[in-house]
Amino acid sequence: MSAPQIPVAVLGATGAVGQRFVQLLDGHPWFRVAELVASDRSAGKPYREAVDWRLPTALPEDVAALVVRDYADRLDSPVVFSALPGEVAGEIEQRMAREGRAVLTNTSTHRMEPDVPLLIPEVNPDHACAIALQRRNRGWTGFIAANPNCSAIHLVLALKPLQQAFGLEAVAVTTLQAVSGAGYPGVPSLDMLDNVVPYIGGEEEKMEEETKKLLGGFDGAFKPADLAMSAQCTRVPVRDGHTECVAVRLRDPALPEEVVAAFETFRARPQELNLPSAPKHPVVVRREPNRPQPNLDRDAERGMATVVGRVRPCPLLGTKFVLLGHNTIRGAAGASILNAELFKVEGLLPV
Ligand SMILES: NC(=O)c1ccc[n+]([C@@H]2O[C@H](COP(=O)([O-])OP(=O)(O)OC[C@H]3O[C@@H](n4cnc5c(N)ncnc54)[C@H](OP(=O)(O)O)[C@@H]3O)[C@@H](O)[C@H]2O)c1
Repeated sequence: MSAPQIPVAVLGATGAVGQRFVQLLDGHPWFRVAELVASDRSAGKPYREAVDWRLPTALPEDVAALVVRDYADRLDSPVVFSALPGEVAGEIEQRMAREGRAVLTNTSTHRMEPDVPLLIPEVNPDHACAIALQRRNRGWTGFIAANPNCSAIHLVLALKPLQQAFGLEAVAVTTLQAVSGAGYPGVPSLDMLDNVVPYIGGEEEKMEEETKKLLGGFDGAFKPADLAMSAQCTRVPVRDGHTECVAVRLRDPALPEEVVAAFETFRARPQELNLPSAPKHPVVVRREPNRPQPNLDRDAERGMATVVGRVRPCPLLGTKFVLLGHNTIRGAAGASILNAELFKVEGLLPV
């Protein structure tokens, strides 16, 4: 007989990322959506009435009937996925962790704290050790673990195989980020049509800081990677899928075909463990000169992979390439779910 599914709650369940959680958890072998929480605009209504469902798949019937809860309610679920706006996440997520729950969050609020793991299971699964430190520091029985910013996660999934194979000294990245990265309804259409917006508040700092934490070590304290890093972030009129133009200086210079081989052979703990949401190939390489493109490549490996193309020499830093990743799947909800799957296998969930 298979083990019963673990009941989970979704905070910010009516938003762009909250809806992705509901979609991705439908039929999940280990987790079942039991509780949905949103603002007082939605609380008390059945989810089907509270949500403006924006995804092409049908709203799962069992979830549609759940009544949306208020943040002040005491939840029953031991595992909580958070897609709250940063401004309100801090206190709510801390309370849930204090109550003994595992809080897996998309918000930036706790990502850079010195006892909070910022985790990509393919990149730094060992950082989960920070959970013990966090519990000791804060006297909590639960914990908070974060997944990275939606651009940083795809950048780091591509950088990790290069760091492993050749060493990494410097990274310059320019992003072309999708409109859904700003939630729904997000950026006004008159700002996006026929336009590129060359500024996303706080995004460049997040990419630079998070990348160093993710690629760094943990030996009782986080040690950021020793890396020169420069990010420029723009918003473009694409619905889903962030594109990034990347140049890197490797410690041991490599030919483009060696870089491609490092991407294509990259496998890590989620693949070894065969976690339900793990992509078979975390980094997918396209060889056509005009790929990756958002509307052709964002759903590679069910939206859980980073797609790389145009790997070529760079006269400034040595190597350059273009990458693309789905921002609300691997860039948000899918990343939290994969973290939860890793924690389940490692016995870290409070169930
Ligand atoms: N979109 C992305 O690609 C992406 C990627 C990575 C991380 N993130 C992060 O994920 C989080 C959610 O982003 P999103 O894009 O899903 O945002 P969103 O579409 O604006 O959704 C926000 C959600 O939070 C609820 N909410 C709004 N104001 C609230 C308040 N004052 N108190 C309690 N709940 C409130 C909303 O509920 P109501 O419907 O009831 O108002 C809704 O469920 C943010 O921290 C964001 O930075 C987003």
